[in-house]
Amino acid sequence: MRYDKHILWACVAALVTGWVLTNDDGHCSGTVTRHSCNWTCMHLTLQWPGSFCIDINNKTSCKIPQTVQYWTIHGLWPIRTGHCCDCWPIYHSHLEEIEPELTKLWPSFIKGKHFFYFWKEEWIKHGTCAGCVEAMGSPLLYFQAAVKLRKLFDIDNILEKSGIKTSCEVSYKHDDIRGVLTPLLGQNYDLQCVTDSEGREAWIQLKIHLFRNQTLGCPKQEQEQKFDRLPWSNSTGHPCPKNSTIFYVPINYENPHEPCN
Ligand SMILES: *[C@@H]1O[C@H](CO)[C@@H](O)[C@H](O)[C@H]1NC(C)=O
Ligand SMILES: *[C@@H]1O[C@H](CO)[C@@H](O)[C@H](O)[C@H]1NC(C)=O
Ligand SMILES: *[C@@H]1O[C@H](CO)[C@@H](O)[C@H](O)[C@H]1NC(C)=O
Ligand SMILES: *[C@@H]1O[C@H](CO)[C@@H](O)[C@H](O)[C@H]1NC(C)=O
Ligand SMILES: *[C@@H]1O[C@H](CO)[C@@H](O)[C@H](O)[C@H]1NC(C)=O
Repeated sequence: MRYDKHILWACVAALVTGWVLTNDDGHCSGTVTRHSCNWTCMHLTLQWPGSFCIDINNKTSCKIPQTVQYWTIHGLWPIRTGHCCDCWPIYHSHLEEIEPELTKLWPSFIKGKHFFYFWKEEWIKHGTCAGCVEAMGSPLLYFQAAVKLRKLFDIDNILEKSGIKTSCEVSYKHDDIRGVLTPLLGQNYDLQCVTDSEGREAWIQLKIHLFRNQTLGCPKQEQEQKFDRLPWSNSTGHPCPKNSTIFYVPINYENPHEPCN
């Protein structure tokens, strides 16, 4: 197994300095565990902008840019138990080459922060774990992999073509949505919902299970984390219930917190 020289350096430094590090990047503090590459599955998590703001506590902090009209990337997450080596810095300049694509496909909907802070957070939490696989072995490669996968899974198009359209009135059975997605994604993916103030189950995320080599079909792992809680939300996110219908809500740019009210 080849490791990128950055991760090697970072992990060696962490070991030598007694597991506690801080660097000028600010994110390398606290206890550092040696990086291990023993995970087998990862999730490409896509989010639906129409329901994203329903769950956000601060009612003025969420904004969906008018240009965003499609499923966006939340992250690419190795499913693991241990902690990654989180001392693998990322700088804005690393992403220069794909910034236009990231801006389009991986935007943040929290106002007032440059998108880079979202990308950086995802890199620290998840990318540094993914990076032990050579094909994702640098910040640029990791983000490129996620973008490539997002483009491969053309969710918007397949839903549209199958008549699963955004609406506040019409809702869909779990099996109707799965019936559309399964030919594209296989059996192994999860639908996640949030409950809006009127009790609607609104589809918010799609987690596509992948192997490390970026192919579909990785089975569910025991160590799967719960819904990745957002620090700025109460996160009532949960698997979309099978006993109620699911709303695929339209994007309401004026009132994204209550798209249907
Ligand atoms: C989120 O939780 C806080 C405190 O627990 C509560 O005051 C607030 O009303 C909650 N917001 C929503 C949208 O449920
Ligand atoms: C809510 O978000 C707005 C805009 O980002 C910010 O100015 C304000 O301080 C936030 N309020 C709280 C309570 O965090
Ligand atoms: C992977 O490694 C971590 C840390 O060394 C360990 O806690 C965990 O149990 C391992 N997971 C698997 C699936 O082997
Ligand atoms: C990807 O990995 C899986 C699981 O290890 C394996 O079954 C599959 O053949 C691999 N596919 C490719 C294209 O390498
Ligand atoms: C669906 O099932 C859950 C528990 O499995 C229950 O809490 C909920 O009330 C049920 N909802 C409906 C609409 O039946």
